Amino acid sequence: MHTQVAIIGAGPAGLLLGRILQSHGIGTVILERRSRDYVLARVRAGMLEQGTVDTLREYGVAERLDEMGVAHPTMQFLWNGVRRDVPLEDEDGRRLTNYGQSYVVEDLIKHREADGLPIVFEAEVSSLDGIEDSPSVTYSVDGETKTLTCDFIAGCDGYLGVSRRSLPGAEAASYLKEFPFAWFGILAEATPNPHTRGFSNTPRGLAVSSARSATRSRLYLQVDPEFDITSMSDDEIWDELDRRLSDQDGNKVTRGPIIEKSVARLRAFVCEKMRHGKLAIAGDAAHIVPPSGAKGLNLAVGDVRLLGEAIRRHLLDKDDALLDDYSRLALERIWPTVHWSCLMSEAFHTFPGQTEFDTRRQHQTLDFWAHDEIGNRWFREAMLGLPYAV
Ligand code: APR
Repeated sequence: MHTQVAIIGAGPAGLLLGRILQSHGIGTVILERRSRDYVLARVRAGMLEQGTVDTLREYGVAERLDEMGVAHPTMQFLWNGVRRDVPLEDEDGRRLTNYGQSYVVEDLIKHREADGLPIVFEAEVSSLDGIEDSPSVTYSVDGETKTLTCDFIAGCDGYLGVSRRSLPGAEAASYLKEFPFAWFGILAEATPNPHTRGFSNTPRGLAVSSARSATRSRLYLQVDPEFDITSMSDDEIWDELDRRLSDQDGNKVTRGPIIEKSVARLRAFVCEKMRHGKLAIAGDAAHIVPPSGAKGLNLAVGDVRLLGEAIRRHLLDKDDALLDDYSRLALERIWPTVHWSCLMSEAFHTFPGQTEFDTRRQHQTLDFWAHDEIGNRWFREAMLGLPYAV
């Protein structure tokens, strides 16, 4: 089989890149190691920057988002037991929108399928070859080994994928920070209580309460990296959420059946080498952010907008200038956003050995972002997202 661009991974990055290239009339095949059902059921955060919403609109995949997306005009911070509203909208009306990431993925898959374009599920890519001049991808599906030849490979296969490992020089250009804690996340059939929303800094560690939909709540507790998911009963989880999220007015989290539990370690990672020859990486394959800034999907969108245009010029205009500049331009958005996400993490979590002095400094940071004019402007700019290179 031959295609113009082989895309590895049907996450938000790979699917949106496929959509962008489709709009330029460029053929793609997406290879995804998981099943269709697995990809559709994957639960992840869903805070979309204005630029992400605009991009999804631009490529014609935002009908449901426009119907169901919920504006997020403020964010709530809780410290010393007091909840405060932090304004998020800017003067130009840019804002954050709450829309589950699994919906973004589903919208992209359904449009692609309706247009008759290929996604091969349960196709595990094992190697990438010929990336200097005539690329090919080896994968196995139904126990059979197959080869996809192409003009370009886009590695959108996440942090653990095969693409970054196949990119010469990537390892030497990679930077990793692991935080000494994890997030224990639950999804519950519980009407979100607007009075317990937001991020909480407490001596017991961070807690986060957010709305996934009108009837579903998504909540997180900071836990030890080795946390055993079976070590807390559902009642103990709710009690701990109450301890960390209740405020001066006695507002408590609404309880309900817990339908999903997961633990994710917090890390930040950047690979500064994002392209070699006819292979480029985008999204989580190139960088990981700690979840506190909700930037993972939004960063991936910035990458694939840029990469889509660079591939278009490379294939259709025979102009490689933008492709040659891909890493540099992408990193102009990636590093500040990774830095921002780390600052958010550092302001809300309790670190091992943390002193009262450290806690008071965290409160100063939160106060600056919430109440100081300059601090709040800076916070809003970071949350609303940096401009795109193209
Ligand atoms: N062969 C084929 N597919 C693979 C392989 C492989 N060898 N390795 C990984 N994949 C697939 C994964 O199964 C996954 O579906 O690549 C996909 C990568 O998707 P994501 O992990 O969602 O990464 P990305 O698209 O970059 O996501 C961007 O959105 O979902 C969030 O947390 C994610 O912050 C990230 C952002």
